[in-house]
Amino acid sequence: MIDYTVDGDGVASITWNMTDRSMNVMNKASIAAFREAVDKAIQDKAVKGVIVTSAKADFVAGGDLVSMLEESKDAARALQNSFALQKLFRDIEKAGKPFAVAINGTALGGGYEICLACHRRIAADNPKTLIGLPEATIGLLPGAGGTQRLPRLIGVSKALPMMLEGKKVDAKTALGLGMIDEIVAPAELLARAKAWILNEGQTGHVKPWDQKGFRVPEAANTPRGAQVFTAGNAMLRAKTMGNYPNAQYIMSCVYEGMLVDIDTGLKIESRYFVACTQSKEARNMIRSLFFSIGDANKLANRPKNVPTQTYTKIGILGAGMMGAGIAWSASAAGLQVVLLDSTQESADKGKAYSASLLDKRVKSKRASEADKEKQLGLITATTSYDDLKGCDLVIEAVFEDRAIKADVTKKAEAQLAPTAIFASNTSTLPISGLAEASSRPANFIGLHFFSPVDRMPLVEIIRGKQTSDETLARAMDFVKKIRKTPIVVNDSRGFYTSRVFATYVSEGLTLLAEGVTPALIENAGKAAGMPVGPLALADEVSLELMHRVRTQTKKDLGDAYKPDGSAPVLSLMVEKLGRMGKKAAKGFYEYPADGKKRLWTELGKHFPVKPESEQPALADVIKRLVYIQSVETARCVEENVIIDVRDADVGSIMGWGFPPFRGGTISNIDTVGVQPFVTECDALAQKHGARFTPPKLLRDMAAGGKSFYAA
Ligand code: NAI
Repeated sequence: MIDYTVDGDGVASITWNMTDRSMNVMNKASIAAFREAVDKAIQDKAVKGVIVTSAKADFVAGGDLVSMLEESKDAARALQNSFALQKLFRDIEKAGKPFAVAINGTALGGGYEICLACHRRIAADNPKTLIGLPEATIGLLPGAGGTQRLPRLIGVSKALPMMLEGKKVDAKTALGLGMIDEIVAPAELLARAKAWILNEGQTGHVKPWDQKGFRVPEAANTPRGAQVFTAGNAMLRAKTMGNYPNAQYIMSCVYEGMLVDIDTGLKIESRYFVACTQSKEARNMIRSLFFSIGDANKLANRPKNVPTQTYTKIGILGAGMMGAGIAWSASAAGLQVVLLDSTQESADKGKAYSASLLDKRVKSKRASEADKEKQLGLITATTSYDDLKGCDLVIEAVFEDRAIKADVTKKAEAQLAPTAIFASNTSTLPISGLAEASSRPANFIGLHFFSPVDRMPLVEIIRGKQTSDETLARAMDFVKKIRKTPIVVNDSRGFYTSRVFATYVSEGLTLLAEGVTPALIENAGKAAGMPVGPLALADEVSLELMHRVRTQTKKDLGDAYKPDGSAPVLSLMVEKLGRMGKKAAKGFYEYPADGKKRLWTELGKHFPVKPESEQPALADVIKRLVYIQSVETARCVEENVIIDVRDADVGSIMGWGFPPFRGGTISNIDTVGVQPFVTECDALAQKHGARFTPPKLLRDMAAGGKSFYAA
């Protein structure tokens, strides 16, 4: 795992080289091996200094989460491990000889914390390198000295956003921030590290914070520090609503740690770190954001025994908002795209969307003119179905209208090889019904993208009744090819994401109809951890669209249609008041020219607000807005719409921003506990209606003491 050599000039090299893994990671075994090598170098009097580097493409990618979770089962043991790691890094700092780290590639989390412990940080000029402390993004904090060393090194105001937002920056940015000391050509990296050790390093191996009279820039007991923490705490609260204890702990580590010496600061950090590892928020975030998304990206549920499909050319029908976005994503992945619309003008407009995105990239130097021309060259804007010949896959994104969809399906299939896949990007129409227009329903599937496609990483794959395993596997290969994350669900009205997302919005509208203060509803949505309140979201989706979908559903379902409390709200807003949503600058909110939207002042006239004494508590509104989504998801599991609960969690977080600290709609039930969740839902159903009634699946699980995920 760790190679150790000493050269003729007395310079030792400690080289991370975990040959059985794609990346170097810190776990029990690799840390022990690193400790052994560090001890050897420190104890050997002939060693004048040490280069720490990696034999792999990257430096060290961070902590091994499997090992971390295992080790943190016992908090006391976790604390001892943390102290031991802090001591190892302190021993490097106080070795009495220089340690230079040669950062050949990405150094994240624990990997960058190794760099922070060394006396000199030299990075190779490698455009792929990412440097940072991203622990906060999975509910943790930098627990190997990061919260203590980074603010001491670059100041509190620069260090806090790096850690709170878990930013990853390239080497040049890291140099600008002071996170590393220099950048050299890759071929000179080791020579430069060695030269530093033998020259400047011989006297330059005492850290600033181990020198007499060191003061932390911007500690809380300085005037500037007082400002930074006051504003920082307020900003943090506004952003997290207190839902992310790890973010609060990062603040506390820095606040408390900068007022004491480094050794005490490291102990403070260890305690907060262990507290993070024991939190349900971290467990939820690690499970869903790391493991479940990772599994989805690896296509864990791909049907076996189907050869991997490689794609070269795809077709897209309808060059509107969605078609244009899909064309961008596919061409960015190097695929030839035939972008078809009913007029050449519309098709060209769809292609122009990619041109505008590429222009922005050229401007920000993320792409060259040549890259732009190359990618645009892959997109053919057309009105001719002939151009679809040779496509391995065609995705339909025309108007949400069954007859139009049926028509384009037939026309496209006439040009395609019998093996080609036909996919629909419909957001509401059941796939099995649309497949009736197809002459090969086994090759028909739903690929539901999210808007805006270029920024939304999720694709919901919908299996129709007749969709074959082979088609599913090949569709998954496509999603992977365009670097998006697939979840797979069975067909049903609204599939999974639209169906459950709608319950959040509907519950918000129902609350409004009940006379709950609009501001309370909106604030409860945000306090619950949702990106925006339900009324703002309804405006964004468009009240008109929601109303139209409902009218269609009512028509389709006939007597089986059950209107909920939000239906009269939508009718009133759309039909009587003509308030269509954000696009029309008129919805639950007003959108004045100053860009500062505010709740429509006349809302109270149409939806009278109950007296203060009858308003529900914030916690109760939050519960309704969150539980309604989880209980609907449980129904999706019971109805076999959801095939794998990990996909439900991933889809909820990536699809509509369900709060990551809750782990997703299903993890949320486990976090509450299935039994208490059922009890609470029964109480909600009694008070607010049958939509909260838990499905049998949950009752059975509660009775059997079961949970969705193993403990
Ligand atoms: P859009 O109205 O922006 O684009 C539709 C495009 O299809 C237009 O350019 C239109 O000219 C073209 N078109 C219509 N009939 C055609 C025909 N017979 N032949 C060729 N082209 C034709 O609509 P948008 O928003 O892009 O939606 C497209 C599909 O994607 C719909 O099924 C919609 O439900 C679905 N969807 C929309 C999402 C959204 O957020 N807008 C999200 C996910 C799915």
